[in-house]
Amino acid sequence: MLNWDEFHEDETSVAEQPAKAAAAPAAMSPPTAAAAEVKETGNNYRVADSDRLARARKSLEALDVAAGLEELEMGAARIEVSDKQMINARADLNQLVPFKYEWAWQKYLDGSANHWMPQEVNMNADIALWKSQDGLTEDERRIVMRSLGYFSTADSLVANNLVLALYRLITNPECRQYLLRQAFEEAIHTHAYQYCVESLGMDEGEVFNMYREVPSVAAKSAWSLKHTQSLARPDFNTGTPESDQELLRNLIAFYCVTEGIFFYCGFSQILSMGRRNKMTGVAEQFQYILRDESMHLNFGVDMINQIKIENPHLWTPDFQDEVTQMILEGTELEIAYARDSMPRGVLGMNAAIMEEYLHFICNRRLAQIGLKEQFPGAQNPFPWMSEIIDLRKEKNFFETRVTEYQVGGALSWD
Ligand SMILES: [Fe+2]
Ligand SMILES: [Fe+2]
Repeated sequence: MLNWDEFHEDETSVAEQPAKAAAAPAAMSPPTAAAAEVKETGNNYRVADSDRLARARKSLEALDVAAGLEELEMGAARIEVSDKQMINARADLNQLVPFKYEWAWQKYLDGSANHWMPQEVNMNADIALWKSQDGLTEDERRIVMRSLGYFSTADSLVANNLVLALYRLITNPECRQYLLRQAFEEAIHTHAYQYCVESLGMDEGEVFNMYREVPSVAAKSAWSLKHTQSLARPDFNTGTPESDQELLRNLIAFYCVTEGIFFYCGFSQILSMGRRNKMTGVAEQFQYILRDESMHLNFGVDMINQIKIENPHLWTPDFQDEVTQMILEGTELEIAYARDSMPRGVLGMNAAIMEEYLHFICNRRLAQIGLKEQFPGAQNPFPWMSEIIDLRKEKNFFETRVTEYQVGGALSWD
């Protein structure tokens, strides 16, 4: 229980300290040249070194701060919706409303309504199956290990890209609100993978190092990282056609490729396992993650398309070619991962079927941002994946009981 009297006492004692501290040196040391220049502040204390204070103020004036951290502009005109834009906006970023992009705010609300935590999922059946000698085939075990190996670090790559590269460059507060929600969801996903690794008693060093030890996993991670690096440089800023295109490359690399293609082989493999009543706890974790990820992807697509609408000069034929190429590169890396993680047919799938699925996904990603499909006619061999993506929490695919997350639990002051 908080006691306000203690706070009052603390405040009083802290307030008294500076006066004592200030008095001590004056009493102990003789006046110096600097002290001789002491000027009155207008209050009942003085400035010890007015030159130093002037230098500090000057360096603050020169400070180049990220959008949203500028000095307050007293009496500036109030924000109009028309002042807001996705990138290079000058409107105050600390004011969430009035909304311009209702879709961004709606996704923030939807993401928050989908809240879940890894510990809600019962892992007992998985632990028994994983530890039994003949519960899973070698090929099934390989899929579980590869999936946890890729995803355990991939979500950290996504989170780091959001926080260290992307966030400051998106100059719209309702989009930033969603990015903050997404960043927390990425933390929950990394937690979920860690929770699976710990529950199953896996060698965590082996799993978490796979992104730099297993070539098919490392190739995907290295591709994503390459697209963070230029934006994460402290001197990078948008505002020229070249730098604005660099930001678009990052959005496409992370939303369309990393979250939109690199996650799909592993997700469909693990969910196929769950449909066969194997590793149902891990599959349920992946099911919730996939639902979050499909919203991340849709949000990214909305951001990309909005930036295109506001900056049509960026979407040149050459740039469209380049972006198509990026999405094809991502598809090829995912197909290589499918071959490596499925050397033989397993769980009713094989690398050739997965290849068609990934070509179908590639077409979808291209079409979502207005580009031409590269594999016309490719079909979806896993229609059940779409059902899982759209699943609402209370209609659990595996019919296990999931506790509804209690939003706004009662606080007790006793
Ligand atoms: Fe994630
Ligand atoms: Fe994500």
